[in-house]
Amino acid sequence: MNAAATGATPTEWWRDAVIYQVYPRSFADANGDGEGDLPGITSRLEHLASLGVDALWLSPFYPSPQKDGGYDVADYRDVDPRFGTLADAEALVARAHELNLRVIVDLVPNHCSWDHADFKAALAAGPGSPEREKFIFRDGTGADGSLPPNDWQSMFHGPAWTRVTEPDGTQGQWYLHLFDPSQPDWNWDNPAVRDDFDATLRFWLDRGVDGFRVDVCDALVKAPGLPSWPHLNLGVVRPIDGKFPPMWDQEGIHEIFRRWRGVLDSYEGERILCAEAWLMPDRIARITRPGEMHQAFNFAYLETKWRAEDLRATIDTSLAANGAVGAPTTWVLSNHDVIRHASRFGFDADLELQDGIGADDPQPDRELGLRRARAATLLMLGLPGAAYLYQGEELGLPEHTELPDEFREDPTWERSGHTVRGRDGCRIPMPWEKDARAFGFGDTDTTWLPQPDYYGDYAVDQQSGRDGSTLELYRAALVQRRELGLGGGELEWLPDLPEGVLGFRNGSVAVVANTTREDVELGDRFADATVALASGVGSPRLVPADTTVWLRLAG
Ligand code: GLC
Repeated sequence: MNAAATGATPTEWWRDAVIYQVYPRSFADANGDGEGDLPGITSRLEHLASLGVDALWLSPFYPSPQKDGGYDVADYRDVDPRFGTLADAEALVARAHELNLRVIVDLVPNHCSWDHADFKAALAAGPGSPEREKFIFRDGTGADGSLPPNDWQSMFHGPAWTRVTEPDGTQGQWYLHLFDPSQPDWNWDNPAVRDDFDATLRFWLDRGVDGFRVDVCDALVKAPGLPSWPHLNLGVVRPIDGKFPPMWDQEGIHEIFRRWRGVLDSYEGERILCAEAWLMPDRIARITRPGEMHQAFNFAYLETKWRAEDLRATIDTSLAANGAVGAPTTWVLSNHDVIRHASRFGFDADLELQDGIGADDPQPDRELGLRRARAATLLMLGLPGAAYLYQGEELGLPEHTELPDEFREDPTWERSGHTVRGRDGCRIPMPWEKDARAFGFGDTDTTWLPQPDYYGDYAVDQQSGRDGSTLELYRAALVQRRELGLGGGELEWLPDLPEGVLGFRNGSVAVVANTTREDVELGDRFADATVALASGVGSPRLVPADTTVWLRLAG
């Protein structure tokens, strides 16, 4: 039971927490307009309580033109009418707290929306104005300034610069956007920007939120002079030709994190910061140093293939790096930016997947994907540290891999010239009840992204109380994880396991994952143990193909 539940003084609840990501547009639709909303989330919070998670993290629900699924924020201190009102946000937090669930909201500090009042003011005020100093405006290159200021690429493809029309009607300066043109980057060298974000933190802390997930926090500071970098770094950032990209992980980010930590620590309770930064564990651990962020997503783990030796290497480097600074390691397999793991694992591990899958792409083996997803989840939840879950993964929900292209909203699809499908397939509205309209997502015939017919079979009501269902596997895993203290435990590798089998001891439990396509005999080394939980039909003597077992050790 967590500290909030017992009423005890909270003691670093986040170190072993399981945090569930809600994507507001696709969780539950209370007003029947085909898009999820805050009252919908509030009405479904009991699902999270019965799942047994400690907290939820809400992707952005702020006013936004939704050019990048709400990660283009027009006002950081309000709620978009499509999602409800500020009063709805307060009601959500209050109800979550009643259910002993903590609430983390998304902070998007690298960029805002081009609809943000400050950006509009910057456009209107013209070159050299203090308003423009809040963003990264530069003159173009080439004889008439018609070429971008440098060669940086946008994460959604195409140049990272867009030219503006000046108030006098002439073609003028360019502004930097590491993402979509609708997402101008803030200038974090400007004290006014820093002050404004302090106000945003306080605004939500005053409303009782328990922390922030900080979007692309490693991009806030750019190398002086914006030096050339023609590459596009997708996924975890690694040096190229020995050089590190000038827009990620610059030293100046740390003083910003320390400043925010000071703001959070001035509040009662334990409010946390979680870094979204696609960096290797050694660089992540600089962000989770004392006085900076509490934890960071472990995307190196998310990117690791379902192969025993690769998993072991990532687990080792992650625990070592975070351990060295006294931070918990986190684990994550899915989120709103990647192909759901129940589908990712349905491909041969050697296949390099792009961002998103379309109907004419090779399709995953759904059964294999689910089998491995369950095994991967049980492995993850057996590891010491905190874990992040993404809505629907507790149902074994696959990606919508045949979403008709006309529905795609991810800017990547257009900007890549229809070569990269993007992330819509993992953002499909949740199925709650098989026989209800929109599978219980809301009282509507049309959801903002269409649900595939087979999603009904994955609905919560089809799995709840059904022995062996993925939902019941998650519930049991979360109960046992807490009872056995796995999140707060320590990992000790078990030697001499067959090839392709990963095994470690965590307290009184042995976690054994068979990542191969063949059943594996364990002999009698665990003969005295009993099966606490298994993703398939495991025993202390035999772990079937693509299966993880938790064995309770005798004595
Ligand atoms: C983060 C978000 C992603 C968004 C991007 C730009 O990576 O998770 O959804 O597109 O930042 O804000």
